Amino acid sequence: MPDLSTTYMGLQLRNPIIVASSGLTRNIDRITECEEAGAGAVVLKSLFEEVLAQKDFGMKEGTVDHTEAYDYYYAHLELLYGAKDYTDLIREAKEKTSIPVIASINCVSTEWWPDFARQAEAAGADALELNVFTTATDLTVDGRDMEDLYFQILSTVKSKVDIPVALKVGPYFSALPNMAVELGRRGLDGLVLFNRFTQPDIDINERKLKTTFSWSNPDEVHLPLRWTALMSHYVPFDISATTGIKNAEDIIKLLLAGASSVQLASVLYQEGLETIDTMLREIDEWMSRQEIARIPDFKGSLNFHRAGDAKHYLRAQFMEKIREIE
Ligand SMILES: Cc1cc2nc3c(=O)[nH]c(=O)nc-3n(C[C@H](O)[C@H](O)[C@H](O)COP(=O)(O)O)c2cc1C
Repeated sequence: MPDLSTTYMGLQLRNPIIVASSGLTRNIDRITECEEAGAGAVVLKSLFEEVLAQKDFGMKEGTVDHTEAYDYYYAHLELLYGAKDYTDLIREAKEKTSIPVIASINCVSTEWWPDFARQAEAAGADALELNVFTTATDLTVDGRDMEDLYFQILSTVKSKVDIPVALKVGPYFSALPNMAVELGRRGLDGLVLFNRFTQPDIDINERKLKTTFSWSNPDEVHLPLRWTALMSHYVPFDISATTGIKNAEDIIKLLLAGASSVQLASVLYQEGLETIDTMLREIDEWMSRQEIARIPDFKGSLNFHRAGDAKHYLRAQFMEKIREIE
């Protein structure tokens, strides 16, 4: 019988499936259900967006109409007055479950989070995931300034806590490999590739801006797959893949590319937590068929460095594939 256990940021996981930060992990009942369903770990709902939902600024019938200014404002309020609910949830999750509990903080600055990070650690969080939410809209801010914000947040938090710290980022960087190296230098323990955002839209009848939300689709998995395969062999931290992961095959591909774990949300909302069990069974069957005993025996075996056919990861493959179709 294959052993599905893995390590992520030094944490022992019974399997690589993590329930991603979302409403699926927002309270103790849901966290317990995740454990019962077989999840290897949970990332708690981000502190910040929890508040937005409570204040009715969150997703409502698929739309949100708050601005970043609101986000910022309520994040501040919550940290001043509401952080205790979150640390209570961490404590309860640690008491009532035995899987690793990763706290998630939605960061936009270094102003308040570092002290809260310490509180989360004191409450028993096994690790922290910093979900950095910022968009470059200032004409005077260049790419390095934007990256510096991530470096500052990471360095500040790392100086305050001893538990592992992961950064959950979006895909919009001009030179992600260099950024990853710099994050590694600053002690990053895990990189979560990639966060998925709500998208802007326009209501043409009301003639106003709105924000849309949709579940991820299966094609989206190729982006984390590409970057995991490209970076996993040289970064000094673990990679956790998220976005577009729908089934056991996707998970196996990401492990082959070098991910240490995967984080699922959409598929669990759509198909229910029971699907975790199906995925685990199918991973188990695949490993048995391949005569692989343990995840470390194949993890990263198809990363950019080892695959031999690196051009498929490096090149956009556009010309080649389009020619086949045409
Ligand atoms: C309803 C919902 C709420 C989410 N809330 C958060 C959040 O609070 N913090 C966060 O970092 N990511 C949040 N996410 C993003 C997920 O953690 C995940 O990274 C993303 O949805 C990609 O995975 P998927 O393709 O399996 O949905 C949320 C996703 C969904 C669907």
